[in-house]
Amino acid sequence: MGKETIWILIISIYFAKTFATFSTSTEETPYKNSTDWIEDYSDIESKFSLRTADVPDDDLCYLVPGQLRTVAECKFNMDSQTFVVIHGWTVTGMFESWVPKLVTALYEREPQSNVVVVDWLARAQQHYPTSAADTKLVGRDIAKLINWMEAELNYPLERIHLLGYSLGAHVAGIAGLLTKNKVHRITGLDPAGPGFEHADAQSTLSPDDADFVDVLHTNTRGTPGRSIGIQRPVGHVDIYPNGGGFQPGCGLQSTVMMIATTGIQNLDQLVKCSHERCRGNRCTNLGYNVQRMRPRRSVTMYLRTREASPYKVFHYQMKVHFFSKDNMTFRDQSLKVSLHGTLEDKKDITVLLPMMQANSTVSFLVTSDVDVGELRSIALQWEQDNVFKFWERLRRYRFSIRRLRVKAGETQARVVFLPTDGEFASILKGGHYATFNKSTEEPGSHKQERLHRMKMQGSLFKRSTE
Ligand SMILES: *[C@@H]1O[C@H](CO)[C@@H](O)[C@H](O)[C@H]1NC(C)=O
Ligand SMILES: *[C@@H]1O[C@H](CO)[C@@H](O)[C@H](O)[C@H]1NC(C)=O
Ligand SMILES: *[C@@H]1O[C@H](CO)[C@@H](O)[C@H](O)[C@H]1NC(C)=O
Ligand SMILES: *[C@@H]1O[C@H](CO)[C@@H](O)[C@H](O)[C@H]1NC(C)=O
Repeated sequence: MGKETIWILIISIYFAKTFATFSTSTEETPYKNSTDWIEDYSDIESKFSLRTADVPDDDLCYLVPGQLRTVAECKFNMDSQTFVVIHGWTVTGMFESWVPKLVTALYEREPQSNVVVVDWLARAQQHYPTSAADTKLVGRDIAKLINWMEAELNYPLERIHLLGYSLGAHVAGIAGLLTKNKVHRITGLDPAGPGFEHADAQSTLSPDDADFVDVLHTNTRGTPGRSIGIQRPVGHVDIYPNGGGFQPGCGLQSTVMMIATTGIQNLDQLVKCSHERCRGNRCTNLGYNVQRMRPRRSVTMYLRTREASPYKVFHYQMKVHFFSKDNMTFRDQSLKVSLHGTLEDKKDITVLLPMMQANSTVSFLVTSDVDVGELRSIALQWEQDNVFKFWERLRRYRFSIRRLRVKAGETQARVVFLPTDGEFASILKGGHYATFNKSTEEPGSHKQERLHRMKMQGSLFKRSTE
């Protein structure tokens, strides 16, 4: 990858102007509306090599869309999952050494699986802008393969995981965009930056391309558009080990391999390793960034009115500050809020937070169709993204909360709620409720505000989280 990296750098500067031409042109967007192209296999140029654990570095058998016999010939395992490995731009016109290594690693992890290596070397060895534009054609080829597998073999797309490196990450995105139904997962490894930083979601990897899109960004130094790896988040989860500027000499390849084979549930370990390799055994700050992308949604709140409803709706505006020492951003997270009042309880009101970010404050609106009376306590639960089984194994993400500020829409009363035990309450993704009781504290008094600020800046929080 080293050589390639250097080449892309040189070329990205050289061709900086050319990129605009392909990334803004929509003519090449493959037509999704007509179904004709899906079944026209005659123009597929990419080859789909079903590699084996025994011979991970050679192409022995190709799956050919439209030719059912190739499925049997290649001993495709219908009952197992399929990894589709997609290489990036190449100077040599040959597979780079990480490809067979990744194939081996995937078979070690999932011995029964099918590891398909996409060969688009002919298109990938052109001038970078040409190869970059060709990602659309390659993505279309792969979409045809996948649509064919689904239609002809009844192969479930929940078993398909695309892994793309550099330009291959965008190829995976385009393939995911064009398949009739969504594939389960796409892992993007350093999606290419030049020509893609400012391109639209149809031309790049994006969260819409699979049920779950996770992305590792190790190479995002430099100004946007000039960096080798795309800088903006393009997945549901985007990880920037060490802030995206990976330390030189830290084995990018092995890092990429590790994330591809173990997934991001071992992210801590991964980041730790790369740090340890580079700094002896001094494991200092293991910071990393998880970002969930999607075009920014407005955080504006809307009052829900139910004029025609037989019930009155009670509104509570809640404001909460999420503390974390890890730089984390999550989008579209679901919280469950339970209200305990003097009259009644209202349990499990679902609230969708457009964004949860470390050390930032979020306001949201909770509506209840029952009059709970005077609020006494509130419970919050951070829900799991239930679509993805793999999340369950993921590291437990957690935010700390010191207080919950609540304003009742009907009475305009402002009340502060404090954790029932301890200075901070923790909410754990997929974890239990954190409970808060009404405090006697005067909300918003100057003295309290100042105390609050001092506490936040002081050592209390640090001590409790480190
Ligand atoms: C379908 O796509 C073609 C481009 O191939 C476009 O000309 C046509 O207007 C589209 N039709 C609809 C109904 O969107
Ligand atoms: C959030 O703030 C605390 C101190 O209030 C600090 O220790 C922590 O590092 C911050 N987290 C991030 C991600 O900046
Ligand atoms: C958190 O990560 C994002 C994405 O890399 C970055 O833009 C931001 O500056 C980081 N914030 C901190 C406090 O490190
Ligand atoms: C919190 O409030 C609940 C009822 O609202 C009460 O049962 C409990 O004792 C309170 N806990 C504390 C620590 O005040």
